[in-house]
Amino acid sequence: MTERTFFLIKPDGVQRGLTGTILARIEAKGLRLVAMDMRHVPQETAAEHYAEHAERPFYGDLLEFITSGPVVAGVVEGPRAIAAWRQLAGGTDPVDKAAPGSIRGDFGLETQFNLVHGSDSEESAAREIGLWFPDL
Ligand code: PPS
Repeated sequence: MTERTFFLIKPDGVQRGLTGTILARIEAKGLRLVAMDMRHVPQETAAEHYAEHAERPFYGDLLEFITSGPVVAGVVEGPRAIAAWRQLAGGTDPVDKAAPGSIRGDFGLETQFNLVHGSDSEESAAREIGLWFPDL
């Protein structure tokens, strides 16, 4: 069953010059890019995107980080795209959770600077695609 998911290459990934490497992994996996652009994230978009974490102690740091520089936002499509992208990304903590071979496992050290974001469910994929790509 084909599904779509939303992804971000966060400011650390863009700033470190890993955009091409990360996109190459997406394409090598077989996921199809259906929308993508580079943008500075408005504060309101960041707050809405991460609204479910508003009560977490790191929420302020998360918003500050995601608005600190350009991100690459996109939508990919394929069979089990949500799980496939999360497998490519690896777990949230790049050392304790992300396996070697995943994007975070190979390139990350700290949870705050974990390079990429991916929708974690069908509901969040629909919500995030609607927020970032309302015309899709
Ligand atoms: S999960 O999978 O939703 O349970 O992950 P979680 O650990 O709850 O993290 C949610 C997002 O918050 C980011 N995060 C942090 N940012 C800054 N500082 C700290 N300490 C921190 N801990 C978690 C984490 O990278 C998740 O961002 P996204 O973009 O959803 O991956």
